[in-house]
Amino acid sequence: MAEIPIIKAAPAQLKKKPATGAELGFGKILTDYMFSMDYQQGEGWKNPRIEPYHSLTLDPAALVLHYGQEVFEGLKAYRWPNGEIYLFRPRMNYERMNRSAKRLCMPALDVEFALESTRQLLQLEKDWVPSSPGTSLYIRPNMIGVEAALGVQLSKKYLFYIILSPVGAYYPQGFNPVDIYVCEKYIRAARGGLGEAKTLANYAASLLAAEEAHELGYTQVLWLDAIERKYAEEVGTSNIFFYIGDELITPSLDGTILPGITRDSVLHIARHWELKVTERRISLDEVMAALQSGSLKEIFASGTAAVISPVGKLAYRGKTFLINGGKVGPLAQKLYDFIVGIQYGKRKDPYGWMERVA
Ligand SMILES: Cc1ncc(COP(=O)(O)O)c(C=O)c1O
Repeated sequence: MAEIPIIKAAPAQLKKKPATGAELGFGKILTDYMFSMDYQQGEGWKNPRIEPYHSLTLDPAALVLHYGQEVFEGLKAYRWPNGEIYLFRPRMNYERMNRSAKRLCMPALDVEFALESTRQLLQLEKDWVPSSPGTSLYIRPNMIGVEAALGVQLSKKYLFYIILSPVGAYYPQGFNPVDIYVCEKYIRAARGGLGEAKTLANYAASLLAAEEAHELGYTQVLWLDAIERKYAEEVGTSNIFFYIGDELITPSLDGTILPGITRDSVLHIARHWELKVTERRISLDEVMAALQSGSLKEIFASGTAAVISPVGKLAYRGKTFLINGGKVGPLAQKLYDFIVGIQYGKRKDPYGWMERVA
């Protein structure tokens, strides 16, 4: 594939790389360069380029700022012990981005070109990929409608860009369970809405619920279905799994749930381990009954940020329930070790999921 033009920054403009480790936090430090390209209706995607990281100049009437035509992705680059840099199933991110774009009436990307752009940006920025345990370089592709117009309409112009941020270990103090608040007051997504797209409105809809849960001392919200407020859907910005008896259950993808790449990986691995794995609706009544009978073994969330997040406590209708005695369950631990081992090149990659970029 063609080399993408690079506009180099003057050496004095380059940022000082931070110390690596937990103090990196999440998404506060951005690297020196970004990839961008433009779309014009009738012409398609054009002008791909890698340039020094910069602020965007947007017309105040840009459609994204008024009607929310935006889709994004989130993936990570991992440094292996031999110094090489790898991505985890990155094609799935750009395929999901195209599905999100379709829902928002935005143009599709050429997946191979988007991957190549990511690769070339990472090759330039490879020194930004941290190496201390659990750290990585977070990759944020974003697409926005930039045409200036105040009427509700589809933008005829788009900007696609990729920015990078070194991130600290999610569990600097070790792999720990989180406390979850079951939210009955607000909903994240309804069938027919935007729930399965990775777009800004879903996150805007989640902020107030998360704030209220934090005020009550909980880390995340467990979202219920919008109609009956009865069935589990997601946890915060991750997918959810329940291990009951000998069955590993996760809500089926029926339009309101983001199809997580970690979720897909957990399903794949668990099936390979010959666990009984089911994608179906699961009600809080069923979860409560399993808690009471002692058959609820574990609850955990899955997502790129934390990989696996075991749930230690669940608050529902004024009561708090301990899950697996508030401790990390063996299945969550085994899945976490397996996936993280593959991502960081410490374990054989039996499914060919890792792609080398530098
Ligand atoms: C709403 C939501 N659900 C689930 C996920 C988990 O998806 P993935 O495993 O691809 O990170 C994310 C994170 O991207 C998310 O934002």
